[in-house]
Amino acid sequence: MRTQVGIVGAGPAGLMLSHLLHLAGISSIVVEDRSRAYCEARVRAGLMENWVARMLIDTGVGERLQREAMVHDGIYISFKGEARHIDFQKLIGKQVFIYDQKEVVTDLIARRLADGGQILFEVENASVHEFDGRSPKIRFRHQGRAEEIECDFIGGCDGFHGICRPSFPAGVRSDYDRVYPFGWLGILSDSPPPDDELIYCFHERGFALFSMRGPDLSRLYLQVPPDEDADRWPDARIWDELETRLGGVRPLARGKILQKGITPMRSFVTEPMQSGRLFLAGDAAHIVPPTGAKGMNLAMADVRVLSRAIEAHCKSGREDLLKDYSATCLSRVWKGQRFSWWMTQMLHRHSDEMDFDTKRQIAEIDYVTGSEAAMTSLAENYAGLPMA
Ligand code: DHB
Repeated sequence: MRTQVGIVGAGPAGLMLSHLLHLAGISSIVVEDRSRAYCEARVRAGLMENWVARMLIDTGVGERLQREAMVHDGIYISFKGEARHIDFQKLIGKQVFIYDQKEVVTDLIARRLADGGQILFEVENASVHEFDGRSPKIRFRHQGRAEEIECDFIGGCDGFHGICRPSFPAGVRSDYDRVYPFGWLGILSDSPPPDDELIYCFHERGFALFSMRGPDLSRLYLQVPPDEDADRWPDARIWDELETRLGGVRPLARGKILQKGITPMRSFVTEPMQSGRLFLAGDAAHIVPPTGAKGMNLAMADVRVLSRAIEAHCKSGREDLLKDYSATCLSRVWKGQRFSWWMTQMLHRHSDEMDFDTKRQIAEIDYVTGSEAAMTSLAENYAGLPMA
């Protein structure tokens, strides 16, 4: 097989890269080790920055998003039994969108296939080769046969556990890592969310987040110990804990729990995001803790930068944008890392004591929900920093 860009991974990054390249007249093939059904069903964070929604709409994959996404003007932060509103629309004139990543993936797969794109699902043993030269290769097995894609560039969009990042030659990468001493237990429930907007709760028993996927579908999270076993959380315990941490700021309707899972928390960045003609994008290069839901948004920023750099190379032989890819992405990535870390440390309980740091945290939440300057800073990061 021969194509201009070989893409490993059919998540939001790989599919959007393939879509943007197609619009620029550049061919690509996507390989993915999971099935199409798996990719389309996996519930992930569902918060979309303003510019990402606009990019999907402007590039013709926003039709269902415009119909079904829930548009939010702001968020609530709850502490000391009070929910304080941060009104993005008023502060910075921007909204955010709730639209699950699996819907983005579903829309992008449908669009790529309708446009004649090639996505090979359920490939096995994918590996990347010769990306230091002009003719990189992706090798894998598909439907029982050994296959090879010969291409000009490889997009490594295969997530944190993928094969692309570990394929960098020894000594090229520096990794920056932080793990947090807690995780999130997340549920999907057929019950109405407690408010039209998201509520982030700081509570003495730990953080809780009340999000949603629809008017009668809630997406709710609880801070739990790291490596917690979801089986230790029968439904009644989850509801009791959610209700306690919501602290009476809204009534909480209970419903049938449709899904339950643990989200690990880590911050990770690898530098550089590029080796020769292999370019990492999204979770393959960086992971954020989920607070603030920056993961998919950063991935979308990477592939926009990458598609433009490849387009400039193919159309006018420019090398500079490709050479700058890593630095361009990393300046945004680190701001996303900073914001995600900041939201995480501010809203989670780090100890059971009412100690210095806990007092400082409460003062910080009080400040962030009371000062217009601080709220504006939160709003512009949450709704998405401008794309260069
Ligand atoms: C969601 C997840 C988040 O981590 C967040 O900050 C906001 C929303 C969600 O899944 O809906």
